[in-house]
Amino acid sequence: MESNWKSRKVVVVGAGAVGSTLAYALAQKGLAEEIDILDANHDIAQGQVLDLAHGLPYYPSVQIRVGQSQDYADAQVIVITAGAKQAPGESRLALVKKNADIIESIVDDIVSQGSQAVILVTSNPVDILTYVALKRSGWTKGRVIGSGTVLDSARFRYLLSQHCDVDVGNVHAYFLGEHGDSEFPAWSMTHIAGLAIDDYCPFCNKCNTWQLDREKITQTVKESAYHIINYKGATYFAIGMALVRIVGTILQDQRSVLPVSTLLDGEYGLRDVCLGVPCVVGQGGVKQIIDAPLLPEEKKAIAGSASIIQKVLKQLAS
Ligand SMILES: NC(=O)c1ccc[n+]([C@@H]2O[C@H](COP(=O)([O-])OP(=O)(O)OC[C@H]3O[C@@H](n4cnc5c(N)ncnc54)[C@H](O)[C@@H]3O)[C@@H](O)[C@H]2O)c1
Repeated sequence: MESNWKSRKVVVVGAGAVGSTLAYALAQKGLAEEIDILDANHDIAQGQVLDLAHGLPYYPSVQIRVGQSQDYADAQVIVITAGAKQAPGESRLALVKKNADIIESIVDDIVSQGSQAVILVTSNPVDILTYVALKRSGWTKGRVIGSGTVLDSARFRYLLSQHCDVDVGNVHAYFLGEHGDSEFPAWSMTHIAGLAIDDYCPFCNKCNTWQLDREKITQTVKESAYHIINYKGATYFAIGMALVRIVGTILQDQRSVLPVSTLLDGEYGLRDVCLGVPCVVGQGGVKQIIDAPLLPEEKKAIAGSASIIQKVLKQLAS
């Protein structure tokens, strides 16, 4: 198919903490030639754009503008960070429904512009909203993806690097499944310096409580967002960097393996659900899903994530 997108144009929908941090980090990386920011609250979009644009003398060359629906037409990547906050007394399901409606209306707008972009959903619950966006768009599955467990995997890599006192760049590791309470570390895929984590242990030799430490690291990753939200109300810096990583691999067709949320069609023995699994990501979105041979307990964990998400999807549809 002929593409009509500008090669390095990114539209960010939602100018709150996550959207503005993404725009700020993306501008500094010099990956995009144009960043357009949209928000249902025009004043917020206007304010963020002015504040960001005043840094233009100090970024690599980039245009930062308030966007409008027409900007979807030739964007290469559209990142959805828009969402409503939980109102006092509102149930989690009611909030999911509200956010699903928001995502559907944004996707309708994108589709009506004849956009050929990749849609990257970040709004929570991200696996559910990625599924909603994909179904609403009618697009091929690789073009509508979610940030999945890219952030959680970064937290995992950071904690492992701290524990083993080694450069985080030498740690390859993934959290998989739901971006939420049922996510899990894929220990069978965890490597440091090319060695399986257990084979690396003798070189590190700093702890003799590895089994306990593994559980502690797992728990810390899973509780990270709760702790940060307790401290300061929201998380946005690390997710901003995670989104830059995903957007960058799409803009530059880097074919990086990242655990984005994607529709499974038999991989991991699962169908009709979006989950964070390792995928080759490049121009056009997910190019391939890596169907890794997980351990039995990891297979059980990913199936558990799928059933939790499918239950909510059923409730949404009823
Ligand atoms: N996936 C992840 O790893 C991850 C990490 C952090 C946050 N998040 C999620 O990202 C989302 C945004 O978080 P935040 O802290 O930036 O929230 P925020 O409240 O600061 O910003 C959300 C913005 O969305 C806008 N908005 C609402 N409806 C809209 C619509 N129909 N069109 C355009 N804009 C609309 C609001 O006006 C607001 O400015 C939340 O759903 C949050 O849970 C995801």
